[in-house]
Amino acid sequence: MSSIHPSSPGMAIQTAAMSGPDSVEAVPASWTHRHLLDLERLTPDEIRLLLDTAARFKEATGGCRQKLSVLGGRTIVNLFFENSTRTKTSFALAARRLGADVVDFSASGSSLSKGESFIDTAKNLEAMGIDAVVVRHTTPGTPHLLAQHLDVGVINAGDGPHEHPTQGLLDIFSIRERLGDLSGVTVGLVGDIAHSRTARSNIHGLLKLGARVIVCGPPTLVSPRWRQYGVEVSHDLDSIVPICDVLNLLRIQFERQNTRPFPSVREYAHLYAMTAERMERARPDLLILAPGPINRGVEVTAEVADCPQSLILDQVTNGLAVRMAVLWLVCGPRGQGIKTVDAGDGRLG
Ligand code: NCD
Repeated sequence: MSSIHPSSPGMAIQTAAMSGPDSVEAVPASWTHRHLLDLERLTPDEIRLLLDTAARFKEATGGCRQKLSVLGGRTIVNLFFENSTRTKTSFALAARRLGADVVDFSASGSSLSKGESFIDTAKNLEAMGIDAVVVRHTTPGTPHLLAQHLDVGVINAGDGPHEHPTQGLLDIFSIRERLGDLSGVTVGLVGDIAHSRTARSNIHGLLKLGARVIVCGPPTLVSPRWRQYGVEVSHDLDSIVPICDVLNLLRIQFERQNTRPFPSVREYAHLYAMTAERMERARPDLLILAPGPINRGVEVTAEVADCPQSLILDQVTNGLAVRMAVLWLVCGPRGQGIKTVDAGDGRLG
């Protein structure tokens, strides 16, 4: 039995020889959420708690490779209604690294095709004694709807173009790991801002931690209305490259578009792909991020995706750390006196 003590300085992991099951640390009382639905409603301190917990889990698991047993006996269901490579695997591995059981629910082949409603399906899964649901759906608000109907933790793994909180957290974690405090750091989010849940979660999280955020892309994909959130808007990648500390290169979400927002992919790449030539005009220590899947030659060239400043694969490793932290905070052991009924806004009642 091992336990994580996120409130103690550094990493304090106790092994089976040193502690019994009763000594497993409770989730800190400062974490008052039953679910993780979005970053928009988290406070800066809650985001820091998530990031700090992720850092401790990364260290405690030897870089996300070893197993702990802090979620032993818990069962997590992956409920994915959209394709996923990284997020689904990452949640499953994160849960297993913490000793939980994982069930991958596949919508195709389920009774949804026999007319069962989404909520009835979820309630049937809940009746099997699960502890948390990780949900990805094309419809914005699906995790929020589930949270109103289920009495288990709900984690948003991407709801249409709305939010993708764990992607936002792992992007921010990866930046913070390299640059430290985010205040004063300039982050450019480049690409299909209009359809990107990654962009929304990054914007909320980065602004709360004091970063300067510039969204950049063609006017058809980057509306001036983004300024109301407190970000800067640019349609000219060449003008922002020299002033950014970080560029997060977002995929064009063709699957969410009804009409093509630019004349050709070639023209888009000419104006907005991060290339070796543009890297020459950037700060020498510019960090390159991308949530993946990357389309080489569209938002980023192969040279840049694979360059030493690219954190693209570090992000994937850090995704495990962030998801371990989220799973532990959502379904780890609670201290006395904390109610577990969701008040409808994602907070404990
Ligand atoms: C993102 C997603 O699915 O929203 N990818 C991911 O989760 N790693 C971004 C994307 O699909 O472009």
